Amino acid sequence: MQAYVMTRYGDAGAMEVRDVPEPVARDGEVLIRVRAAGLNPIDYKIREGKMRLVNRLDLPQVAGSELSGVVEGVGAGVTRFAVGDRVFARVDKKKLGAYAAYAVVHETMVAKMPESLDFADAAGLPLAGLTALQALRDELGVATGDRVFISGGAGGVGTLAIQLAVWMGAEVATTASPRGEELVRSLGATTVINYQKQKFKDVLSDYDGAFDLTGGQDLPDSFAILKRGAKTVSIGGVPVPANARVDLDAGPVVAAALRVASARIRRQARQRGVGYRYMFMHPSGEDLNLLAGLVDKGTLKAVTDRVFPFEQIAEGFAYLEQGRAKGKVVVQM
Ligand SMILES: NC(=O)c1ccc[n+]([C@@H]2O[C@H](COP(=O)([O-])OP(=O)(O)OC[C@H]3O[C@@H](n4cnc5c(N)ncnc54)[C@H](OP(=O)(O)O)[C@@H]3O)[C@@H](O)[C@H]2O)c1
Repeated sequence: MQAYVMTRYGDAGAMEVRDVPEPVARDGEVLIRVRAAGLNPIDYKIREGKMRLVNRLDLPQVAGSELSGVVEGVGAGVTRFAVGDRVFARVDKKKLGAYAAYAVVHETMVAKMPESLDFADAAGLPLAGLTALQALRDELGVATGDRVFISGGAGGVGTLAIQLAVWMGAEVATTASPRGEELVRSLGATTVINYQKQKFKDVLSDYDGAFDLTGGQDLPDSFAILKRGAKTVSIGGVPVPANARVDLDAGPVVAAALRVASARIRRQARQRGVGYRYMFMHPSGEDLNLLAGLVDKGTLKAVTDRVFPFEQIAEGFAYLEQGRAKGKVVVQM
């Protein structure tokens, strides 16, 4: 079958379309005929070798983190899915494999896709949707009446995070350039700061929580707009030692490296009297069910920026890597 394969760590040339054997569903796994797959910054960060410390892959490896498609077969013990089901999934982080005609995914990571979506829109939901849900619900504990700041609201994660925070009852402030302002307002953000003209820390104060998507100076700046005791959860900044045990299944060497790397940012948070946590999202069929329900109720809208044919996946990545996508970039098989 045709697949987009990462052959080494490096630049865009490190991935290529190749013929590879079809995968086989083992115990508990579902074989999916892939109809569409989402492109994510994590895919090119993996290719660039930035995740090597926490997730070393056996190369060559079929790339791709999320997909939608149709169940083609099931391994022994699979009870939740049957041949013909329309499903979507954030695939196993160590196995990847979404950019291919067929993929196998453990059934615990799979859910029936929203009935109201086509395959392209559904393929862009799992990774960004689970990230936004887990950050806002599990890390920030967003509740009715909270004021929440989300940096970078116009991208893949931001467009879903704004909507989920509003669903949880929060009032949302976000940063966007004029290119994204109308979009983030239409999704429910009530305060939009043009990050090209103004520093959000000069405008906002007394927030109940911050979700940092952009990292860099935005991360310590987010501490300055929080109430004392409130927290920033980041997916754009620096991981902390706790991530090694909780999220990465890694030992003391990784924890020690993260302790050193995050020392400064943790100190900055302490000095401000706020909490800081980096988050790695977790694949979850159960959480995907929740997201699918919200989509079918009309509460959550998939925002797809561009759809490329699989043959043009390299162009899709070139577009995504410019960092300007409004919502999700997807390839159709
Ligand atoms: N830890 C995890 O589990 C996890 C999970 C998912 C994603 N992530 C990370 O989260 C980050 C965001 O992912 P994504 O998929 O949302 O990325 P994305 O879709 O590529 O984000 C692009 C958007 O970001 C906006 N943007 C860029 N720089 C900005 C800035 N300084 N301030 C405000 N907006 C800015 C751009 O708007 P303009 O065109 O208007 O500039 C564009 O609309 C990535 O670094 C990704 O690797 C981590």
